[in-house]
Amino acid sequence: MPEENVISEEQQRHKLSDGHTIPTLGFGVWQVADGPECVNAVRWALESGYRHIDTAQAYGNERSVGQALRESGVPRDQVFITTKFNPGRKDPAAEAEQSLERLGVDHLDLYIIHWPRKNATWAWPGMETARERGYARSIGVSNYSIKELDEVIATASSAPVINQVQFSPFEYRRALLEGCEARGVAVEAYSPLGTGRHLADRTVTEIADRLGRTTAQVLVRWCIQRQTIVLPKSTHRERIEANAAVFDFALSDEDMAKLDALDDTGGTAEARGRKWW
Ligand code: A2P
Repeated sequence: MPEENVISEEQQRHKLSDGHTIPTLGFGVWQVADGPECVNAVRWALESGYRHIDTAQAYGNERSVGQALRESGVPRDQVFITTKFNPGRKDPAAEAEQSLERLGVDHLDLYIIHWPRKNATWAWPGMETARERGYARSIGVSNYSIKELDEVIATASSAPVINQVQFSPFEYRRALLEGCEARGVAVEAYSPLGTGRHLADRTVTEIADRLGRTTAQVLVRWCIQRQTIVLPKSTHRERIEANAAVFDFALSDEDMAKLDALDDTGGTAEARGRKWW
């Protein structure tokens, strides 16, 4: 692996409000098939220097993530592992225990509610139980608007430390980001490449060509400079490696502004364009 792709610890971690830290760059495995595709992708990610893997009960690939972790030889305590509670189930703590068994680990670094199914608050006490029992070090949510986040915070013993949402220059949810920052909630960006749709955009391409970078690197870097934790996904080894080479260049204020202007959410505080469940 080229030297510049190596992700040095320290500078590339994000501090959470519960005192734990999380690597700024993570590897997402949404829509990566259980079995060899997922095992290979996660092993390549770990070999490329990623130290943060993001899976979910609903993805059905936790066993493959665990297998890849063991096969990589990277010590468990050097890898940050997130999974998500499937809110189609009833008991977050019991489901976390099942995830631990599938992943083959004794704790999760982060456990988040996958989406606010039915209402924003019902699952939170079970998430707190999962943390109290030691199944997860940190707990949070995903796909929560500021309004939904406030509903949880109002009833919580301790507030979520993370909100994972779809986030990119085209989904620059400025009010959501600022609202999370004001509440001490870190934002994680999923689908930073728009599941591939944003890679051929003209503005992104112009910036990438000028900087001698790929469009994927520009999109990932934008998320980092917007102070989010970012989770690009790929099943190709060379793309996995290249997507991580984002710590040896910076976007200028002018390029950041050009990318910001691509937003078509109107700077929303909502986490999603429509209800998708
Ligand atoms: P593939 O998995 O075949 O490599 P997102 O991170 O927004 O979910 O986007 C993931 C999508 O973008 C996947 O379809 C992935 O395809 C594609 N992708 C990821 N990285 C790159 C890259 N560097 N170049 C081209 N396509 C990429």
